[in-house]
Amino acid sequence: MGFEMESDFLVIGSGIAGLSYALKCAELGTVVIVTKKKDVDTATNLAQGGIAAVLGKDDSVDSHVEDTITSGAGLCDEAIVRMVVENGPARIDELVQLGVDFVHDQESSSGYSLGREGGHSHRRVAHAYDLTGREIERALLEKARNHNRIQLFEEHIAVDLLMAKGTIPGWGACGSERCVGAYVMEDGQVETYRAKVTALCSGGVGKVYLFTTNPDIATGDGVAMAFRAGAVVANMEFVQFHPTCLYHPDEKNFLISEAVRGEGGILIGRDKVPFMEKYDPRKDLATRDTVARAIDKELKETGEDCVYLDITQRDSAYLKKRFPTIYQRCLLRGIDISKDPIPVVPAAHYMCGGVKTDSKGRTSISGLIALGETACTGLHGGNRLASNSLLEAVVFADSAANYCRGIWPALKKEPIGQVDEWKSGDARKLSEEILINHNWDSIRRVMWNYVGIVRSMKRLTLAKKRMEAIYEEIDLHYREYLVTPDMVELRNIALIALLIIQSAMERKESRGLHYLIDFKEQYERAHQTLVRKKAAGKSWEIEILMEGEA
Ligand code: SIN
Repeated sequence: MGFEMESDFLVIGSGIAGLSYALKCAELGTVVIVTKKKDVDTATNLAQGGIAAVLGKDDSVDSHVEDTITSGAGLCDEAIVRMVVENGPARIDELVQLGVDFVHDQESSSGYSLGREGGHSHRRVAHAYDLTGREIERALLEKARNHNRIQLFEEHIAVDLLMAKGTIPGWGACGSERCVGAYVMEDGQVETYRAKVTALCSGGVGKVYLFTTNPDIATGDGVAMAFRAGAVVANMEFVQFHPTCLYHPDEKNFLISEAVRGEGGILIGRDKVPFMEKYDPRKDLATRDTVARAIDKELKETGEDCVYLDITQRDSAYLKKRFPTIYQRCLLRGIDISKDPIPVVPAAHYMCGGVKTDSKGRTSISGLIALGETACTGLHGGNRLASNSLLEAVVFADSAANYCRGIWPALKKEPIGQVDEWKSGDARKLSEEILINHNWDSIRRVMWNYVGIVRSMKRLTLAKKRMEAIYEEIDLHYREYLVTPDMVELRNIALIALLIIQSAMERKESRGLHYLIDFKEQYERAHQTLVRKKAAGKSWEIEILMEGEA
């Protein structure tokens, strides 16, 4: 009999969504958080810009709603957008209560120093200079680590979800099974972590691409596990590329925050000529889809490797204070941003799609919640508005925890369903790491070259063929060899790649972040791309659902 963990709530991931939700659920029962690397290895920790909310007296809910919907290219769920925006100020207050130290400005009507980013018609981004995510993560982790009902396990990677018979009454899920936790691996052993409610808060999918602003943990684990368990997944074709990732041979994923453009930064070519006015009347503060595409076009036309972000009109004292991390990091690379334009390129940044949820964070599987970048809630539509993601995470964490509070009197009396132990059968130890490394590299190159900012049906078709072959090989290894964290991640990015490709091929239009040169027009009626695992198919075979079917 192997080790077995049992708790009321299982939370997979330790970023802002997982920690916020865990802290609230700990008021109800016991919480186990598993995170596959160190607890701070999250996208939250790297977030620079901040968290958007209606805080200034000159701002309004309607204005933030309108900016979000405009950015979302006709695909946002207006009721969800309104719910999130209306909840923003209360959630910011709560973060402050939890110890988050946003920068204040006594001259601002909100009392906070508010940043501006692309697509926002007002200054509304609360920040801790360019270390906002780190400050939020610090405060939330401190609370979680010291909570007597929360256990946090680092270096524990979730492998797959545990499913058992039965559903939670009123959940509105499809199917006759419910999620009762996850298989979790630590030190080569896979154990069962059973729970009444499981929350996927494992972040995004950036590592599917060769170049990304994301941390190494972003391998789409939550979406992949949910898909394999039969959950409905939505809008995976909407991959957001951040326009300005530092271009330097010694930098892997360093972001130059959009807040730099908010404070006057201008995109220029090697010839020093600004180019955004050719593409959008909002120029450098256009939404990200437009700016990233404009840079992509400039790079293709000029044959250059990067464009430049020029903030030299601000003096060094201001830049050192407002952007301490960016200032220092660039200086380390020989770039004094008060004198030199910063070389930048777009890189994969954020998945706007994900596991489909309702307004309470509930997925189509009973007992399974998805939050943060793992979820597709209807807020971001076809293109996320800058700094709306941390906001979404805290609002939905609150909404999901409130829902759990409502069902808790009944749920706490129920036993957790029994499941089988993990079986390794006669699997052998994989002795050739090259089998993993080669496929890892191939997937990321195929996605970057064939499924990037500008897409074509020809390239998507080639990508699908290549990825299906790669997935078959990985799936075979997964069955033959003892599972390792690298193998779990590889299998997940391969599946995510297929979901992105297939969803992109399904959307025969150009909308928001999805730009398809064969179909440049938009459908008259916007629709979501909903996919689910084919019931009787192979592990990756995808069924496309019509809206209303899910
Ligand atoms: C940034 O600081 O540019 C990133 C913020 C975001 O992705 O919303």
